[in-house]
Amino acid sequence: ELSPIDKAKFVAAKRAAEMVEDGMRVGLGTGSTAAWLVRCLGEMVRSEGLRIKGVPTSTRTAELAREVGIDIISLDEAKWLDLTIDGADEFDGDLNLIKGGGGALLQEKIVATASDRMVVIADKAKEVETLGAFPLPVEVIPFGWQTTQALVEETLVAMNVMGRKTTLRMNGDAAFVTDEGNHILDLHLNRIGNARQLALVMNQIPGVVENGLFIDICDTVVVGYGDGKVEVRD
Ligand code: A5P
Repeated sequence: ELSPIDKAKFVAAKRAAEMVEDGMRVGLGTGSTAAWLVRCLGEMVRSEGLRIKGVPTSTRTAELAREVGIDIISLDEAKWLDLTIDGADEFDGDLNLIKGGGGALLQEKIVATASDRMVVIADKAKEVETLGAFPLPVEVIPFGWQTTQALVEETLVAMNVMGRKTTLRMNGDAAFVTDEGNHILDLHLNRIGNARQLALVMNQIPGVVENGLFIDICDTVVVGYGDGKVEVRD
């Protein structure tokens, strides 16, 4: 028996899996919701003979996809994708997102951007009026990361962003390391007034590789509820 939160994630994933057609190249997201999707697709491959090529967005997802029997190819082998299905940490009414809670934002953004369509699967609790209650992940290269952090904070001040606290994401006693060997700064902003501008400005800072704001990338959000209800927004 699934808890309401897992049920919400599962039903959203199941509905999104129905959008996958035979022969598609599919980007496979990262996180606990995307894991449900990968399991659903694995089931369809095994029991319905669905033929797809999957492009995973993390080593974690690649492992799970292999385990459940999905054919894995690299993004460069695929060149383009029909569809990417991924989770998110927050989504707003314009279908803009914060992602990267699981630390995979860089591969996730590259893969989603290379797709004809991006579908996000999320439980209702992730819907917000204004993005930013969830700390915004910013991926930075390890070289000079403290200097980069100082520049990020100065930039937030210059942009008049309300919250300005930034923290280095940890993994126990050591800095968290992404699949690309980078670190993550989490920006505690509370509310992001101009997400579009912030996304652009962050990526201008030397040492910043990518940020977790997904603006105009997501086409559809499949919202799952604890009672099993599903809503499709696009
Ligand atoms: C991974 O880097 C994130 O972008 C995930 O998509 C996000 O954290 C959602 O994860 P859950 O589905 O586990 O909430």
